[in-house]
Amino acid sequence: MIYIDPSKQWFHLYCETFSYVLYNADGTLLNLYWGAPLAHTAEEAARCDLSYLLSSFPSGSSFELENRPFEVPAVGTGWFGDPAVRAVNEAGDDLTQLTFESAAIVPGKPALPGLPSVSAENETAETLELTLRDSLTGLQAVLSYTITAGTLERHMVLTNNGTAPLTLTHMASASAPVPFKTGTAGNPSGALSFAGEGLDVIHLRGAWARERRPVRTSVGLSTYKIESQRGASGHEENPFIALAAPTATETSGEVWAMNLVYSGSFAAEAQVKDAPFAYLSIGLNPMTHRWCLAPGESFVTPEAVLVYSAEGLGGMSHLYHKLYRNYLGHSPWRFRERPVLINNWEATYFNLSEEKILAIAGEAKKLGVELMVMDDGWFGNRFDDHRALGDWVENREKLPNGLKGLAEKVNALGMMFGLWFEPEMISPDSDLYRAHPDWCLHVNGRRRTEGRNQLILDVSRKDVQDFMIAMMKRVLSSANIQYVKWDMNRNMTEAFSSVLPAAQKMETQHRYMLGLYRVLQEVTDAFPEVLFESCSGGGGRFDAGMLYYMPQTWTSDDTDAVERLKIQYGTSYVYPASAMGAHISIVPNHQVGRVTPMKTRGEVALGGNFGLELDPAQLSEEDKKEAAALIARAKTVRSLTANGRFDRLISPFVSNYCAWQFSDDDRVLLLFAQVLAQPNYIPQRVYLTGLYPAALYEDEDGRLYSGAALMQAGLPMEFARGDYQSRTILLTKRKD
Ligand code: GLA
Repeated sequence: MIYIDPSKQWFHLYCETFSYVLYNADGTLLNLYWGAPLAHTAEEAARCDLSYLLSSFPSGSSFELENRPFEVPAVGTGWFGDPAVRAVNEAGDDLTQLTFESAAIVPGKPALPGLPSVSAENETAETLELTLRDSLTGLQAVLSYTITAGTLERHMVLTNNGTAPLTLTHMASASAPVPFKTGTAGNPSGALSFAGEGLDVIHLRGAWARERRPVRTSVGLSTYKIESQRGASGHEENPFIALAAPTATETSGEVWAMNLVYSGSFAAEAQVKDAPFAYLSIGLNPMTHRWCLAPGESFVTPEAVLVYSAEGLGGMSHLYHKLYRNYLGHSPWRFRERPVLINNWEATYFNLSEEKILAIAGEAKKLGVELMVMDDGWFGNRFDDHRALGDWVENREKLPNGLKGLAEKVNALGMMFGLWFEPEMISPDSDLYRAHPDWCLHVNGRRRTEGRNQLILDVSRKDVQDFMIAMMKRVLSSANIQYVKWDMNRNMTEAFSSVLPAAQKMETQHRYMLGLYRVLQEVTDAFPEVLFESCSGGGGRFDAGMLYYMPQTWTSDDTDAVERLKIQYGTSYVYPASAMGAHISIVPNHQVGRVTPMKTRGEVALGGNFGLELDPAQLSEEDKKEAAALIARAKTVRSLTANGRFDRLISPFVSNYCAWQFSDDDRVLLLFAQVLAQPNYIPQRVYLTGLYPAALYEDEDGRLYSGAALMQAGLPMEFARGDYQSRTILLTKRKD
């Protein structure tokens, strides 16, 4: 809900989870509050005048303006930190003095042209639009705020209403102060008057094959920054940042979080000043993005999703999960049970053939698998990773009956057929490159740095986008292809378009993303029934931007069950299980060489979109039986894991164990895993959460437990002997 005070002095966005209060202080837009709800009705909101807080900030005539809680810190306002908006003007200065002009509530949630965003479908949404203007340059900023399912969506449209061009160097999607609350711990350094008990900063740090490990540390006394300059959101950092009370846990304490609905380079930071707040922001990376704004033109920033939770990190995750499950994207697959798939990558690598694919599919079908995915190696001269990206025509040596013939045979087994692509790439050794050597990102006269022996198409170009769209349409209509894995296996270097003029070269990275989003929109619109899964060397582009077009992502190239406990646990901070691909692979594991039991590999994979990444013919009879049982279990629980609430119970980062729980109104699925076996083991207890205390829950052996007992007394966990053991327990709530 949105309340605008009649004098248009203050604006109060409120819902059941948070309040966000902005104030127009003589033309300067201040953020007076972001936290627990202050109002639940319009009457309560009207009574909630926070103007008394203004006296605690230096006045407009003071030099110390930087300690005011600007909603849009800009250059030349007295703010001395990194700005949210900075426009260099024709006179050569970068003063960007945005003054409040007007406020309006518009019905619904306007789409962001060319960009993915949360939609507010099924809700009577309204959007607060606040217009600010720099009177000298004519730069107008319209800030847009919508509440969806307990979260706040924020973006900004910058328009040049002046007569001279402007160069945007900073255009954050969201920026907001987060309060330091004075507590008993005191200020660790004594350097600031306001640090109180400080705040922790939380983000998801990683690398290839070990993505999204939560980092939590004191935000400190300066600027804490995370970023990607890679042209992809990246394995290294996810476009997510949160500040939390140092005492916040999984279930209690305050957390303020921002997540960007964008798949390219980004920056997020928490700036600490001598003020009673830390300044949190997220948006395009000023290092890699610049935009020339000609008179009359507008620039739309990506959308940021802000979450406040008074119920710790778990509360934060529940809000993100619910939002992304229900309000992100338009694929009909969002709400469908996802098929159990088998992918041949780790079974054959490039050495695939129709015969091998059909052998894998035939065996997999017997185990209960529903979808056969043919990975890299099916096209052109692709016998290894040195060539052929761009030559998207089936290799007849490997596939004598073409894609069509193979798809028909897979369908005849009673399975769906899916295919791997890497449409954004071009191998120097490819017919496409020989025909269009200028189609890759590059700078004339400089080296074209290869990654995995490949270059990146200049997707900022319309002709390249049109080629990609036509190619995808051609291949997808050539056979019954019901699933696509859309990969992107390297980061950008020499990330410039040869066709943009000098003044616009720095626009390449964002134009690339806009081009890619156009391609994805057109292709997914043309094939709405195809299930798309995104991938980037595993989870190198696991973000809400990609999830808008493709409802699931290959979480990591690391399929080892022990590593997956950590990867899936960390990913769940922001992204729901319905977004995560999770597969059983062969042992010894191809990434780490570890040998884990089939049961553990499968039970960990139950925590995402379940699949297999192996040649079933290599499994022992015993493992085949176990795999079939796990596949049957995956089908039983997939509606629960895709739509239920997810809770992290025990962290694999701080213990020898890991536990997580999915629950809905009817069922609970608990996973408990032990990494290393211990002698004289005394069963650990796991304490469930969020159950109905008075309800009775029945396990698969018919044993009954009260919800209260499961939560308060816990459930002791025993394991089979040996390392890397796991248990899953499925509980059904009794109706009587
Ligand atoms: C990436 C993906 C893998 C596989 C290979 C194929 O690494 O993450 O799953 O598809 O590419 O080259």
